[in-house]
Amino acid sequence: MRMLLVVFFLFAAVEACSPSSQAALLAFKAALNEPYLGIFSSWTGNSCCGGWYGVSCDPETLEVTEISLRGESEDPIFQKAGRTGYMTGSISPEICKLDRLMILIISDWKGISGEIPKCLTKLGQLRVLDLVGNKISGEIPSDFGNLNRLTVLNLADNAISGTIPKSIVNIGGLMHLDLRNNQISGEVPSDFGKLEMLSRALLSSNQLGGSIPASVTKMNRLADLDLSMNGISGMIPENIGNMPVLSTLNLDSNRISGQIPPTLISNGGLGILNLSRNALDGQIPDVFCSGSYFMALDLSFNALKGPIPNSLSSAEYVGHLNLSHNHLCGSIPIGSPFNHLEASSFTNNDCLCGNPLSAC
Ligand SMILES: *[C@@H]1O[C@H](CO)[C@@H](O)[C@H](O)[C@H]1NC(C)=O
Ligand SMILES: *[C@@H]1O[C@H](CO)[C@@H](O)[C@H](O)[C@H]1NC(C)=O
Repeated sequence: MRMLLVVFFLFAAVEACSPSSQAALLAFKAALNEPYLGIFSSWTGNSCCGGWYGVSCDPETLEVTEISLRGESEDPIFQKAGRTGYMTGSISPEICKLDRLMILIISDWKGISGEIPKCLTKLGQLRVLDLVGNKISGEIPSDFGNLNRLTVLNLADNAISGTIPKSIVNIGGLMHLDLRNNQISGEVPSDFGKLEMLSRALLSSNQLGGSIPASVTKMNRLADLDLSMNGISGMIPENIGNMPVLSTLNLDSNRISGQIPPTLISNGGLGILNLSRNALDGQIPDVFCSGSYFMALDLSFNALKGPIPNSLSSAEYVGHLNLSHNHLCGSIPIGSPFNHLEASSFTNNDCLCGNPLSAC
């Protein structure tokens, strides 16, 4: 009997969290409305470290370290309901009282609105902040750089406005930044290249202006840079193609001018390059080589002139080439990267000819 009691108390102790954490979680829940799945139905009683859906605690300190609520997941709760998540309401600032929080994921609920609580920047332990796929508006707090342990910041697919806070470059361990599909304006901070751990910078479909900061070319771990569908102007930094692990560069649908840096074409690691719908001029650099392996190379809708470089036929592979809507002229080179290409890859130029267009 005594044994049983001990076991019982151990269990109760493992599951309970502090009254203040419990109050913060209940205030967070109260500001949200989830009408279809009942994901908050387990959030009752005082055992918030034992079975509250999406809540995890440090087993020793019993502090709440994680809230993971995904509106699109494999969890049986979704399969049973036969639908993805939907929630309205907002993220209560009370959540900032959970000062040991390391992971905060409130993703793909489609209807959560309101702003990012300003006090969130006090959560100094935060590693992952993922609020993708909601209706969050307002600005990213200017002191966001205080979150100096952050590795993943995903605010994509919301209605966030304002600028990218300059302090963001102080988050030395940031690896994944996704701000796609918002209404963010202003410029990419000039010292963006200070983010030396960053491997993905996804900023497409915003209202960013200014030019591509030269410091970007110093980012030795950046594999994926997406600035497409913004209002970015100026030239592409000359040595951008020397970045050691860059594999995807999407700069399409901007107002970028000047010439295509030769390093971008000669870089054998670059697999996807989209420069479509800009104001690029000059010739396509004649520096393709046997190491060139492009899954996609889209240079359409620019003001490129001159011939298609002969070296392109020495490329190992070009999966999806689009040079249409430029001012190119001359005969289309013959060679294996072209064998599968359609006329629409070359149409609307000044005077291109040869297969797959009409003979010269
Ligand atoms: C390149 O960007 C353009 C314009 O944004 C888009 O229409 C096109 O599909 C993209 N090309 C590839 C190969 O993804
Ligand atoms: C090239 O781009 C044009 C314009 O966006 C498009 O109509 C055409 O289908 C594209 N061709 C290929 C092969 O993708």
